[in-house]
Amino acid sequence: MAKLFNSYRDIQIMNIDNSSVHDFGKNVTIEEIDNPLVEIGEYTYYSGYYHGHSFRDCIMYLDEQDKGKDVDKLIIGKFCSIASGVKFIMGGNQGHRYDYISAYPLSIVSNNPIDLDTEIPESFVKKGDTIIGNDVWIGAESLIMPGVKIGDGAVIGTRSLVTKDVAPYTIVGGCPAKVIKKRFSNEKIELLLNIKWWNWDIEKIRASISILMSDNFEALKGLEKL
Ligand SMILES: CC(C)(COP(=O)(O)OP(=O)(O)OC[C@H]1O[C@@H](n2cnc3c(N)ncnc32)[C@H](O)[C@@H]1OP(=O)(O)O)[C@@H](O)C(=O)NCCC(=O)NCCS
Repeated sequence: MAKLFNSYRDIQIMNIDNSSVHDFGKNVTIEEIDNPLVEIGEYTYYSGYYHGHSFRDCIMYLDEQDKGKDVDKLIIGKFCSIASGVKFIMGGNQGHRYDYISAYPLSIVSNNPIDLDTEIPESFVKKGDTIIGNDVWIGAESLIMPGVKIGDGAVIGTRSLVTKDVAPYTIVGGCPAKVIKKRFSNEKIELLLNIKWWNWDIEKIRASISILMSDNFEALKGLEKL
């Protein structure tokens, strides 16, 4: 039977050696993320085709000017699929203290030039690192709030606003995102979390594609022993 799609749409695989994707297809490119505040595992990809931008544009409030500062990191695992238009909001409260009399950063209108350059240290409150596990699928135009932890194998439905942690292999959706269902039984989830196939050597993964892209858990148990 003819394949429905010839190729994926302009996928950017992040932070891997060019040579290991030579046969992935003409629309696959490699993007180097060199921001020390962003860690991305191998084979995680972003497909920004419909928004016409690269993965860098998905990260809000964490850029060049934050390098060297004590701010929250964005940490993403391996083999995640990040759909077009996803946003990660970083930067904690960005210096807006809603528990102060004014939430406005009044130093920017001060007559004292020193104030202009000085961030009031306590006005910035961190939220903790944003941590995305492995094999997480984040649906189009979802927004992940600062400090959220998303477990391995989780699925984030299209246009979700993720404000709370998501357990492994759990599908969430909505605004704010709520649990829709688990992907598998607890027993199968435990098996997957023990196997951690994403840590296998890439050649073992390549040899196991027909099983990993199926629901044949018995065959997976066999692979685990190899
Ligand atoms: C979350 C998702 C994976 C669920 O798929 P599914 O199992 O086929 O879901 P269903 O259509 O059977 O819906 C199941 C329930 O989830 C709800 N739901 C589905 N997607 C939702 C979303 N994005 N936000 C909120 N709720 C959602 C449905 O309303 C339904 O609710 P109900 O049980 O109260 O009736 C899918 O809807 C989705 O969002 N996929 C991402 C698509 C995408 O962004 N692709 C980008 C290219 S990779």
